[in-house]
Amino acid sequence: MLQRMHRRYHVQTFGCQMNVHDSERMKGLLESLGLGEAADPADADVLVFNTCTIRERADDRFVAHLMEARAAKQRDPEKAIVVGGCWSESMKDELFETYPFVDLAFGPGHISKLAEFIGAGGDVARGHFSTFDEFSGHLPLKRERPHQAWLQISQGCNSKCSYCIVPAVRGREQSRRAADLIAEATSLAADGVVELTLLGQNVNSWGRDLPPDERIGFGGLLRALDSVEGIERIRFTSPHPKDMRDDVISAMADCPAVCEHLHLPLQSGSTRILKAMRRTYSRDRYLELVGRIRASVHGIALTTDIIVGFPGETEGDFAETMEVVDQVGYDHAYTFVYSPRRGTEAAAMAGQVDEATKRDRITRLVDLVQQHAQRRNRELVGTVQEVLIEGPSRTDAAVLRGRTRGNKTALVRGDAAAGSLVGVLIEGATSQTLTGRLAPAAVPA
Ligand code: 5AD
Ligand code: SF4
Repeated sequence: MLQRMHRRYHVQTFGCQMNVHDSERMKGLLESLGLGEAADPADADVLVFNTCTIRERADDRFVAHLMEARAAKQRDPEKAIVVGGCWSESMKDELFETYPFVDLAFGPGHISKLAEFIGAGGDVARGHFSTFDEFSGHLPLKRERPHQAWLQISQGCNSKCSYCIVPAVRGREQSRRAADLIAEATSLAADGVVELTLLGQNVNSWGRDLPPDERIGFGGLLRALDSVEGIERIRFTSPHPKDMRDDVISAMADCPAVCEHLHLPLQSGSTRILKAMRRTYSRDRYLELVGRIRASVHGIALTTDIIVGFPGETEGDFAETMEVVDQVGYDHAYTFVYSPRRGTEAAAMAGQVDEATKRDRITRLVDLVQQHAQRRNRELVGTVQEVLIEGPSRTDAAVLRGRTRGNKTALVRGDAAAGSLVGVLIEGATSQTLTGRLAPAAVPA
């Protein structure tokens, strides 16, 4: 069914960096179809939601927005409501029945289909499609940040973490070919990009599904991208500890562009819980890995993800998580309360932990994480750090905002152009940010 010609779109993104990047493709595609972006959803004819379903709170948050969109559509029935992403995929069997006002829905692997369903000029056909079978690397891209870009190296995930919905909504792992990735990186560099963040559900298992003569490994990919002219910084997220092999560590140590930062999800510090999570490493193996990385990559910043209240987690298991946090001394950690996800193995496990206990544990964990973050940041006071200037700070136009190689936000006094790499003398630190001023001389590359 065709509706009136739509002209303006608004995309609202939920979830991880992969979704933020997918939204850049959606926006690029919508603009190539002749639609313009509306800054305010109230002014948009096509309302697009790119959704997440990682935890129950993600679902709740999104559904509240969806209900607002329904109200807007009741006022203006010509508005089209489009729902993409992971929540959409997880709801595919009941979405139209439960939310009949949704015009179009699709899963995370089918962004390109937007073009078939939203015709030139912006008329939206009703429909639903799903499954994850293609990359969006060839689609137009609307980048929000001129000097930084995401590079999607793989999609899907072959792990079986018992708490996680991602394999169900993003499918089996598929890697993009190194030649395509190098070509994309080269063209981004020509476009002014200096920092690349490689994206994948499990970045360091990249390449195992490629033809044998193209399997250069994730370490090999880092080396290849490191030599792309103009790319000064390379980051990646997220790696899995089980795939953090020596070739990856040595590439991190050898490649000048690869930043001294690693996000290494721990999830739990108890070997028993790690087993129930199907993480395939133990507490000792994780700690041994951290030791090897620290020995090879001098001054590396380590960040992590931790879940509290996984089914069966005792006070003793939680104490082990706290011990690992103390031993590693993370620069930052994302902490989560376990949330049962429909269809996952852990949702059906005995020993679900009550809410009060989960709350108590996460409060203690956040406190410990912040202490370490503050200590780690304070260690940088008095040093000169390389900062990529992103622009003026949000709260004070006289102050510049940027990031260190260790991925810490820095607020900088002085004058420098967005996109430049400058040396900053660090003068202050909290658990969240560094403050400082431009150092007199540039840092050597
Ligand atoms: N409950 C709580 N946290 C979860 N994560 C993934 N699934 C769940 C869940 N069911 C966390 C993990 C993962 C991060 C992106 O989200 O820590 O690394
Ligand atoms: Fe959310 Fe996971 Fe999908 Fe990212 S991949 S949007 S975190 S459900």
